[in-house]
Amino acid sequence: MSPALPDGDAAPDDGALPSSVLEGADARAFGVYLHVPFCTVRCGYCDFNTYTATELGGGASQASYAATAMREVALSARVLRDAGLPERRVSTVFVGGGTPTVLPADDLVGMLRAVDDAWGLADDAEVTTEANPDSVTPRSLAALAAGGFTRVSFGMQSAVPHVLRTLERTHDPARIPDVVRWARDAGLDVSLDLIYGTPGESLDDWRVSLESALATGVDHVSAYALVVEQGTRMAVQVRRGELTLPDSDDQAAKYELADDLLTAAGLGWYEVSNWARGAEHACRHNLAYWRDDDWWGVGPGAHSHVGGVRWWNVKHPRAYAARLDAGLSPAAGREVVDEEAAALERLMLHVRLAEGMPLDELADDERGRVAGLVADGLVDGRTLLTARRLVLTRRGRLLADLVVRTLAGFGA
Ligand SMILES: C[S@@+](CC[C@H](N)C(=O)[O-])C[C@H]1O[C@@H](n2cnc3c(N)ncnc32)[C@H](O)[C@@H]1O
Ligand code: SF4
Repeated sequence: MSPALPDGDAAPDDGALPSSVLEGADARAFGVYLHVPFCTVRCGYCDFNTYTATELGGGASQASYAATAMREVALSARVLRDAGLPERRVSTVFVGGGTPTVLPADDLVGMLRAVDDAWGLADDAEVTTEANPDSVTPRSLAALAAGGFTRVSFGMQSAVPHVLRTLERTHDPARIPDVVRWARDAGLDVSLDLIYGTPGESLDDWRVSLESALATGVDHVSAYALVVEQGTRMAVQVRRGELTLPDSDDQAAKYELADDLLTAAGLGWYEVSNWARGAEHACRHNLAYWRDDDWWGVGPGAHSHVGGVRWWNVKHPRAYAARLDAGLSPAAGREVVDEEAAALERLMLHVRLAEGMPLDELADDERGRVAGLVADGLVDGRTLLTARRLVLTRRGRLLADLVVRTLAGFGA
């Protein structure tokens, strides 16, 4: 089960892009997202577009996936060339899922080579893969590093056994220090994903998870509030009263504890849910999303954004493979984002960054609402004056959606 694709216009069968994408292209970074839609088991809270072997059915397989995805990479290079876009080397690649590391390292390296062949990777390209802690070995991590990967992001989620059980995670938390060490020994930069607010998690449990993550010496942590997505097993458990969700005060206390401990350990926030030991360890790929650069999303259900045109691929791996086998673009639909929608999107994404939103990029009426947000303690008055940037205070980070709604004039 995973969320439906958006509506939108039909995408052309050859994937051709309108000439409007050329405008300002030189100034935008170009990244590639490669989706790997497979997991060994599905966690009860997760609604990502991913399939276990039994969910997958016939007509698509893990074994043939890398070759299929490489066909989309080749198609994308053709589409961008035909649109007349300037040659831009790829500054970031992010392989996400699902669990990319259920595929052999050779497949992941093969897909990366295809990206390099199609566009050329920048010399300092950041190349990340997500990984489940029980899907890597010292050998597979070394093979990824040797093949050009620079970074790995492990789904740790928690260090506390009862929390991991509620999340239906399969890995042994004792393995986390080992996988981090193996990855670092291989020369990879390491990030850990944590989830807070799982039913039954106490503030002390959350502290244990944060301290365990920090004890590994990682340079990057993402901490996400648990979202109970419709259609997941966890949503059913909550509806039946088998699980009780924490209240917003508990979630806020956990966010503040994360910020305190991570900051004290030398990891500063650079996006509402992301902390890094200095700018050199921030995830450049995600920064490019938040800064509204261009990226091509390869794989079933993947979204792409090039010069104000957004499109999304068919969702099921079988439909995806069938379209590429027939020589067609896998895009299911697309939309050309109009200026008003683009401005709102920029606001929603950029406000979440510690670098802040340049005040000059706000419309007059939005600027008029900033003073009220400063008075409410949601926006930092100092950076507004010194740098003419709108930066959230910590209270503002907890209420980032409210800040965006208020600025955009949607009311509280
Ligand atoms: C594709 S998964 C990461 C890789 C790997 N599949 C794993 O889970 O270890 C991306 C991350 O999204 C986060 N995530 C997924 N579903 C979530 C939810 N419902 N609420 C909050 N975070 C979620 C988890 O922290 C997870 O590590
Ligand atoms: S392993 Fe990751 S992608 Fe797969 S179901 Fe669990 S959270 Fe989702």
